[in-house]
Amino acid sequence: MFVQDTEDQIFIDCLAGAGTFALGHNHPDVVNAVTEYISTGGPWQTLDITSPAKNNFVSEVYKILPDEFSQSAKLQFCGPAGTDAMEAAIKLAKIATGRSGIWSFSGAYHGMTNGTLALMGNINTKSPVPGLMADVQFMPFPYEYRCPFGLTGAESIKANLNYLEHQLSDQHSGTPLPAAIVVEAIQGEGGVIPAPKEWLQGLREITERHGVLLILDEIQCGIGRSGDMFAFEIADINPDVIAMSKAVGGGLPMALIAYHEKLDQWKPGAHTGTFRGNQLAMISGAKTLKILRETNLIESVKEKGQFLLESLHNLKSDCDFIGDIRGRGLMIGIEIVDTQSAGKSKAPNPELATKIQQQCLQQGLILETGGRSGATIRFLPPLNISQEELKTVTNIFISSVAEVMRNL
Ligand SMILES: Cc1ncc(COP(=O)(O)O)c(C=O)c1O
Repeated sequence: MFVQDTEDQIFIDCLAGAGTFALGHNHPDVVNAVTEYISTGGPWQTLDITSPAKNNFVSEVYKILPDEFSQSAKLQFCGPAGTDAMEAAIKLAKIATGRSGIWSFSGAYHGMTNGTLALMGNINTKSPVPGLMADVQFMPFPYEYRCPFGLTGAESIKANLNYLEHQLSDQHSGTPLPAAIVVEAIQGEGGVIPAPKEWLQGLREITERHGVLLILDEIQCGIGRSGDMFAFEIADINPDVIAMSKAVGGGLPMALIAYHEKLDQWKPGAHTGTFRGNQLAMISGAKTLKILRETNLIESVKEKGQFLLESLHNLKSDCDFIGDIRGRGLMIGIEIVDTQSAGKSKAPNPELATKIQQQCLQQGLILETGGRSGATIRFLPPLNISQEELKTVTNIFISSVAEVMRNL
């Protein structure tokens, strides 16, 4: 949980390498597994060649996939970054369907390459780059606090799904049938926005009926982060493709996709890349997945998340600049707003969010900001954070907010 800077200040790390350290920094079992492997003199990377480390990692990955999905799943190792897993998913979907369109959602983040940047919601980040991947459309994400339909609860979900259905079935919608729809079950960079279970179920039903592939980007919200192994599992659905990276490598670079064998229509070599045989990441990844599978850690994530949410909710009555508190498991966000702005969902207040973030940093707590205008403060701690450490996190946060309020 802890990192130390060059001036010896110790911080409690609630960013955890952007969610890569499910078990925190230097977990002793992971360190042992990697050092033991190195001491055997085994190869560090093997391109595509099968090895005991790879066999073991593959078998661990199959064990964490949902049962029904795993029975017909194929794996593709990708260049070791989440964005390359998403590139592979896009290519696979286009080849398998023969269609070129990919639909994404407002607020989406899938990486920074030419294809994934095109699927990004954040216009400021993508607009300096001309000529991104063509044939991309955006649908509204079910972001209740800023619902584009001006609705809440079940009504908001229903309107959102009706709109999606309409765009796919209306011959005059202007949006030809896409190869795939890509979605995060909990948007991370978009501001920690969990998709409601009913919405995910509706999305799966609609895409299936229209023969559109559903790609779940579980790069950030997967591998236990939400309190389920994969965040989409809350909806009990089967996607066509699952993209994994970050925590799946146990803190070392790793990315892969799992997909239904019926889609396996690309040729060998269709998605090559030198560093797809990173043995050390397979060792650390396999050890991490085994620990997650064999302990009750993921189960505890739900409780810890609930504790964090409740502690933060207690703050809300005293702080009218907290617009929304949301999240699932240990992926939680607080949206800071401008109390002077008009409307029910007030304008984001990135200056105040940054002040709180900086105050937390001074008090030894690392937090990230993201979401609309960077006004959502994000908690993404290692999953094995203890109850005591979680209390320290909330105490630092509460006292930082109080300090910032005193100086407003
Ligand atoms: C949901 C999601 N998809 C894809 C990516 C891209 O991963 P990478 O930065 O490893 O390319 C990220 C990174 O934050 C992410 O959160």
